[in-house]
Amino acid sequence: MNHQTQPHSLLQMFLYTLLIALIALLGYLSFSHIRSTDGMVDSTQAYVEPDSNFTHLWTAPSDWRLMYLKSEEKALVEYGRELIAHTSEYLGPKGSVKAISNGMNCQNCHLNAGTQPWGNNYFAVQSTYPKFRARSGAIEDQVKRVNDCFERSLNGQALAAESKEMRAILAYIKWLGSDVAKGVAPKGSGIFKLKGLKRAIDPIKGAEVYAAKCQSCHQADGGGVMADNGKSYTYPPLWGPHSYNHGAGLYRMSNFAGYVKYNMPLGANYEKPQLTDEEAWDLAAYVNTMPRPAKDLSQDWPDIAGKPFDHPFGPYADPFTEDQHKYGPYKPIKEWIAKHKKSKK
Ligand code: HEC
Ligand code: HEC
Repeated sequence: MNHQTQPHSLLQMFLYTLLIALIALLGYLSFSHIRSTDGMVDSTQAYVEPDSNFTHLWTAPSDWRLMYLKSEEKALVEYGRELIAHTSEYLGPKGSVKAISNGMNCQNCHLNAGTQPWGNNYFAVQSTYPKFRARSGAIEDQVKRVNDCFERSLNGQALAAESKEMRAILAYIKWLGSDVAKGVAPKGSGIFKLKGLKRAIDPIKGAEVYAAKCQSCHQADGGGVMADNGKSYTYPPLWGPHSYNHGAGLYRMSNFAGYVKYNMPLGANYEKPQLTDEEAWDLAAYVNTMPRPAKDLSQDWPDIAGKPFDHPFGPYADPFTEDQHKYGPYKPIKEWIAKHKKSKK
């Protein structure tokens, strides 16, 4: 028996050795590119540090965790999400609950029901409100902030604090902030702050980009496309009577530019943006030059020194014109504001 296995195992040993050598060689070949600095591999591509603004961004809690909520709370969170995603079905001009808004959905601007990184999400709301806001000159709670968007972005009316709809929206916002520590704005929350251009932003250039990259959905007249049910938009309006009013957050150029850069045209996101910074800014200039509903803003900015650099309505504490505040260049304004900033918060 023994003399039979002997030659066999010798051959086996030889084959095993060969196999191991082969594996080692393959392993070396497949990892050798990593040691590209030793000069053995000519690597023409320099390693580029990923932009930390776009890595490890915060995400919403997983849905399965909803099962840990009490059943009424869970139902409220789910109704809140539904209201954010399909606002007009409930609260639009033909809404089933109450007609108090313009037909847009919160989700049109707060993408994926307010969960999209750099898509104007709600990740920092539960953790940072109530907070002082210079626009109202007061400490604002979440009810006030949500109603700001109803009255401005949805050019509508406020929702009563005790209504089921408001309670549901707040329950949903609270849910999204479940794991966010008090005072913290997680990475990727809200809207990205784009670097300003050196020149004034240009509505004429913006019109060209609009025709090429936006018009197919939002239409030449900016009015968007209504869905067949006549209740909500397939493509929401960007200007005209059914759009946000001039007191809305998107009417600020920096918000508009930052929003579209990482979210439009539809399908773009922070991982695959489709617009250059210049295009995004010029689009803001174009869209926010077109007609839209007005709002009485006389109560806003009780302290005019709190107006942001791109607030387009005077009077201002600084010497710059309304035109420059609206279209830039913004750098001199920002510098002036930084220089004159007193210790106010
Ligand atoms: C036309 C676009 C638009 C629509 C529609 C809209 N919002 Fe907003 N919303 C904004 C913008 C822009 C901001 C940020 C404004 C700023 O920071 O100046 C914002 C901010 C908020 C914030 C505060 C976020 C934070 O981190 O401080 C809340 C809460 C909010 N919106 C709720 C809602 C709700 C609820 C609805 C639907 C009833 C809604 N929004 C609809 C554009 C919109
Ligand atoms: C393929 C269709 C499509 C294209 C092209 C497109 N959008 Fe949109 N846009 C949408 C849809 C759909 C929404 C709403 C998203 C949602 O509700 O999830 C939206 C939302 C918006 C909003 C926020 C809601 C509003 O109506 O104010 C802005 C601003 C916007 N788009 C700007 C642009 C700009 C600027 C371009 C061109 C660079 C563009 N979009 C190209 C489909 C499109």
